[in-house]
Amino acid sequence: MILAAALSASAQPASVNFDPAAKVFRLDGGGTSYAFGVNAHGELQQLYWGGRLGAADTFPQAVPMPDWASFDSSYTNTPQEYAGWGAGLFVEPGLKVTWADGNRDLVLHYESHKLSANGVDVVLKDIKRPVYVTLHYAIDGETGILARSATIENRGTEAVTVEQAAAAAWTLPPASYTLNYLTGRWAGEWSLTQEALHPGARVIESRRGSTGHQANPWFAIQAGESSEDHGEVWFGALGWSGSWRITVEQDQLDEVKVTGGFNPFDFGYVLHPGQSLETPVFYGGHTAHGLGGASRLLHRFELAQILPRTAATAKQPLPKPRPVIYNSWEATEMNVNLAGQSALAEKAAALGIDRFVMDDGWFGQRKTDHAGLGDWYVNPEKFPNGLKPLIDKVHSLKMDFGLWVEPEMVNPDSDLYRKHPEWVLNFPGRPRNEQRTQLVLNLARPDVRAYVLGFLDKLLNENDIAFLKWDYNRNWSEPGWDQLPPTEQKKVYVEFTRNLYAILAELRHRHPNVEIESCSGGGGRVDLGILHYTDEVWPSDNTDPFDRLTQQDGFSYAYTPQVMMAWVTDSPHWLNHRATSLSYRMLSSMQGSLGIGANIGKWGDEEMATARRLIAAYHDVQPTIVQGDLFRLISPRDGSEFSATQTVSRDKGQSVVFAFVHSTQKGRLFPTLKLKGLDPAAQYALSAIEGKARTGTPAVASGAWWMNHGLDMDQEFRGDFQASAFRLDRK
Ligand code: DGJ
Repeated sequence: MILAAALSASAQPASVNFDPAAKVFRLDGGGTSYAFGVNAHGELQQLYWGGRLGAADTFPQAVPMPDWASFDSSYTNTPQEYAGWGAGLFVEPGLKVTWADGNRDLVLHYESHKLSANGVDVVLKDIKRPVYVTLHYAIDGETGILARSATIENRGTEAVTVEQAAAAAWTLPPASYTLNYLTGRWAGEWSLTQEALHPGARVIESRRGSTGHQANPWFAIQAGESSEDHGEVWFGALGWSGSWRITVEQDQLDEVKVTGGFNPFDFGYVLHPGQSLETPVFYGGHTAHGLGGASRLLHRFELAQILPRTAATAKQPLPKPRPVIYNSWEATEMNVNLAGQSALAEKAAALGIDRFVMDDGWFGQRKTDHAGLGDWYVNPEKFPNGLKPLIDKVHSLKMDFGLWVEPEMVNPDSDLYRKHPEWVLNFPGRPRNEQRTQLVLNLARPDVRAYVLGFLDKLLNENDIAFLKWDYNRNWSEPGWDQLPPTEQKKVYVEFTRNLYAILAELRHRHPNVEIESCSGGGGRVDLGILHYTDEVWPSDNTDPFDRLTQQDGFSYAYTPQVMMAWVTDSPHWLNHRATSLSYRMLSSMQGSLGIGANIGKWGDEEMATARRLIAAYHDVQPTIVQGDLFRLISPRDGSEFSATQTVSRDKGQSVVFAFVHSTQKGRLFPTLKLKGLDPAAQYALSAIEGKARTGTPAVASGAWWMNHGLDMDQEFRGDFQASAFRLDRK
């Protein structure tokens, strides 16, 4: 029986059913169905997560799993949607609490539910005590991606401490699976790690107070022989920019559970009577079209449902493609001043750049990274008349202006720290470990939150700034919050991140056309939580165009190219000392949202002309690249000799192909690229953005030709670090 059917924001139908006789909930969206029900014990049990079922198909009431001898009880064997730690639960719990009297047993049973337009809230309650958990489900009609989270509420008269709280648990039936996740380090983010799932738990996490470069809160689980293009994949991502944990566990009966939410390490959140705790959102989806299908769904979902809009794009279904930026960091580092930045701005404008961004160094006594963070006044020696002369200059060159900030940090050598040493995360009497000579302001404190919001608001009120690059260059240490009683301090893990989101939301509210980038020394804060409030991210400080190919490949499994900023910088590259042509560097960056970060002051006529030509070509096809459907034709991973990607616009009217040769060996020719996602019956004209197709390649051919016969590169497309790009336009 359909009790609610609704259109999601993407104007696609989602449907939500509840069968009162069988006590089964069913949510359908896109190509996916998800079902769970109340079993005879009163537990909420998952029934199905997979391809979309027939509208008339029904489920019988959920049947709990039996005991397995005297060691594994039904409670631990049953695939619960959100199990309390109690009653002999040995698998990962959804929730673990301790009451003031020492009781730590929690068994959650169904209490009630409320259907909404595209989801349902299900209330669970402990069998004895007034702890209530509301599980929130919402399904996206276009992609079938579910958003799940929980609200934990203390309706009793005693305090209860939440020691572990997941957003959701997902279950897959016993089968052979491969787990995919993303790992890395500073300047080495976005390695796709793939491994067979075995009995036991694989933990992917950050204990750092923020998302982290070392692991990203995303997973994809492939069934059996699933590949890039085929087979079932279940995938998910956490919307949380604080410490997080995803546990992928093959249990004693070979079922696979994916549980994710706040990281329980060093965690504790006291709920006083009447208080509640909201978990982050854990998004999950399913596809039958391999890892490629999974990322295409995620990209669509992120564009339509996650990313913020400015006032100018509030009514658009998708955010606008990112302006092509120039950023001064690699050119000048902290040696910024009016004359130098103005000269760079003139050259940037001559390239066809849309946005000029001044990076670190413009404020306080910032000459090196030893001083200045926290003092957000314009440095009077570098900019004697404030920022206005530079901003006016940038505007006169028909670009808008962006500025770097690092709001959550303070250098001990700053007026702010001298005035408020108590504002940093610390344990009194213990050392305060500095990284990059800086300490982390405790954003959980109301006074720090007010200060950060206040100076950013003032900066935006006083200057015509279109864009903030919001940086965050270290992780936490000594995470004490000595304003609070010892038992309450660990809630810093929640309140810090909530205040970060609140500041971002308030700034966007007060300055509805300002855009923001999330940067954390590169890709240290990229997740679906921060992406609600920021328009783009800086994926890595590593701008080596060859390394970027694998990093961008890894990034693309989880995040849309729309948010993936990619700068062209100087050669040889500072990190790997690798020399590459400007054309190669340009094409590597054109796979995402393009920027230039080189010292263009030194560029001669030839480099200026190449960059100007390719920026113009990029502008022409940018919506297809960053908002189209991405096909990873040849992965650059594992030292591949070649790599190639293709994107196809939603209406299949245009496609863009990038091809890269790493180092030709034994004279091997670039493989024929069998394109994907085109309309087989339509005619497409091929034109080169850079490079050449093989002699004899038709100028116009059907989608069927490009997909079945394929596209051949010129025979001379060989050597080291070569790049070509093509566009196909429907006739
Ligand atoms: C780290 C960022 O990732 C860089 O792009 C640059 O903004 C520096 N911080 C500035 O300190």
